[in-house]
Amino acid sequence: MIIRPETDADHRAIHTLTRDAFAPMPFGDDGDAFLPERLRDAGDLLVSLVAVEDDLIGHVALSSAQAGPGTWAGLGPISVRADKQRQGIGTRLAQTALEKIRNDGFDGCVLIGNPDVYGPMGFRSGGITYRDLSDHLVQWISFGALRPSGEIRFAPALEA
Ligand SMILES: CC(C)(COP(=O)(O)OP(=O)(O)OC[C@H]1O[C@@H](n2cnc3c(N)ncnc32)[C@H](O)[C@@H]1OP(=O)(O)O)[C@@H](O)C(=O)NCCC(=O)NCCS
Repeated sequence: MIIRPETDADHRAIHTLTRDAFAPMPFGDDGDAFLPERLRDAGDLLVSLVAVEDDLIGHVALSSAQAGPGTWAGLGPISVRADKQRQGIGTRLAQTALEKIRNDGFDGCVLIGNPDVYGPMGFRSGGITYRDLSDHLVQWISFGALRPSGEIRFAPALEA
């Protein structure tokens, strides 16, 4: 498996992968498949990586986010093809994306998600909120001493 930045030729496969990965999720809806292209079209994609074997089996997007002082990214959507889940691919995609923004000088990353998935990657909750979501779903990772604070905001495509 290799992880590399998306190319124009990947756009359709990313759409399909995202649609299929989110479809079974209780929080999924028909709009999820369009999130990567909405971020891309708005010029808000900071990082878009794909995991490829013979086919495209994973994708992660990072975009700008507001989380108090400092420079923060938002992680999502992230998708791994159903038959390839629980093999560490999501973790490798997220870690590679985080390494990129860390090298680019970001202070850290925020996301909404299941702590069982993101806790092992180093994300934690506390100190930030998002709408009326339960605090444990609102997570962050910091690359330095700065902590995110307050109500976070994602790129407009993710806020819709
Ligand atoms: C979430 C997702 C991207 C994770 O990718 P993945 O490649 O399966 O994740 P990993 O194999 O790196 O798993 C890392 C850890 O997360 C946890 N984890 C992963 N999927 C989980 C699940 N469905 N339920 C509970 N814990 C889970 C486990 O602790 C896992 O480690 P383990 O398998 O050693 O126990 C993938 O499951 C997916 O595409 N899900 C559907 C779409 C989705 O929910 N996206 C995220 C929305 S916030």
